[in-house]
Amino acid sequence: MRAMDYRGPYRVRVDDKPMPQIQHPRDAIVKVTRSCICGSDLHLYHGMVPDTRIGQTFGHEFTGIVEEVGPEVGNLKAGDHVLVPFNIACGQCHFCKQGLFGNCHESNPSATAVGGIFGYSHTAGGFDGGQAQYARVPYADFGPTLIPDWMDADDAVLLTDVVPTGYQAAEMGGIQKGDTVVVFGAGPIGIMAARCAWLFGAGRVIVIDHIDYRLEFVKNFAPAEVYNFKELDDVVTFMKKTTDGLGADVCIDAVGAEATGSMLQTILGKRMKLEAGSAIALHWAINSVKKGGIVSIVGVYGPTGNLVPIGNVVNKGLTLRGNQAAVKRHLPKLIDHIKAGHINPKAMITHRVPLDDIADAYHMFSDKLDNMIKPVLLPNGA
Ligand SMILES: NC(=O)c1ccc[n+]([C@@H]2O[C@H](COP(=O)([O-])OP(=O)(O)OC[C@H]3O[C@@H](n4cnc5c(N)ncnc54)[C@H](O)[C@@H]3O)[C@@H](O)[C@H]2O)c1
Ligand SMILES: [Zn+2]
Ligand SMILES: [Zn+2]
Repeated sequence: MRAMDYRGPYRVRVDDKPMPQIQHPRDAIVKVTRSCICGSDLHLYHGMVPDTRIGQTFGHEFTGIVEEVGPEVGNLKAGDHVLVPFNIACGQCHFCKQGLFGNCHESNPSATAVGGIFGYSHTAGGFDGGQAQYARVPYADFGPTLIPDWMDADDAVLLTDVVPTGYQAAEMGGIQKGDTVVVFGAGPIGIMAARCAWLFGAGRVIVIDHIDYRLEFVKNFAPAEVYNFKELDDVVTFMKKTTDGLGADVCIDAVGAEATGSMLQTILGKRMKLEAGSAIALHWAINSVKKGGIVSIVGVYGPTGNLVPIGNVVNKGLTLRGNQAAVKRHLPKLIDHIKAGHINPKAMITHRVPLDDIADAYHMFSDKLDNMIKPVLLPNGA
């Protein structure tokens, strides 16, 4: 089969790889119908994630048609069209029983903090992902979810990560009716977090980025007040001024460890790698939220040191919450929201790309070219 093949930082290509096989009675093999590139893939592509091995196939957001199931997968059959949550979760361990499907204790042989994730380095289990014609899906009796007949396949693929992650970002913010919510990052995740903030009762939603075409999109899509941080003298001062000097009720970090906006953090974190990337968006979130407020973090950070202002967290009495989204937990209500027209995820898909053009798609997504917001790969044709 044809599959994306990681060759080192900034180098991906498509190669022939062996067909994935059933390795365990709970496995399934799916023929991939759609597969996205995510901001999380950019951390891999930029060489920021430890133990990303040459030859790995990325891709944790995919839908597919079931080809084959192992003997313990009773709920799926060949021909079913499923969406596959990005978390690999057993559904049975201590953490899965609490709905913490991003923190499954069984699915990741190489770390305990995070569960397995498709195509996300050996720190997340070393599983090949769905930027390929076929993929092996472990614990297929638990994760994959039938795509309802009425649902657009483009919405379905965004339910594997973007929609649940944006939703959980808003949920972890503990938004109360009328709250002012500031979302850092106008990529797909920030866009969806801003949209979902309204579902939780926000009274004002502000989005910060420095890419104007993304700000323009989220301004209409969420809708939201938008600001380009390059045009502000000081982000935190501006946020205080626009919230009566108190700060926002909730700040959401939908940027993660590759934030731009601070020369110091860029040099220390991204160039010299003395900290795990640049955490400037998290700084802004912590310093822009009001005393007693909540900072919800879905932007991805490495496990080691970041220059975060922890003293401000203590002295302001903040609550920090973060996680990999527990995709499966949110699906029933998000499917209802899509059906009711409360969210229209597919509107953010700007590019449809054949698998063979994947190197171009990574480059464009990484450099924010051609007004790209969310690219979808079609590994087996349209
Ligand atoms: N926790 C989870 O479950 C989960 C799931 C998916 C993605 N993520 C993470 O969420 C983050 C966003 O993902 P995405 O797909 O939207 O990525 P993306 O790269 O498309 O978007 C990130 C956006 O942040 C903007 N940005 C950079 N520095 C900024 C700053 N200082 N302040 C405000 N905005 C800034 C960029 O211009 C860009 O538009 C990534 O870190 C990704 O790894 C987490
Ligand atoms: Zn993703
Ligand atoms: Zn588990």
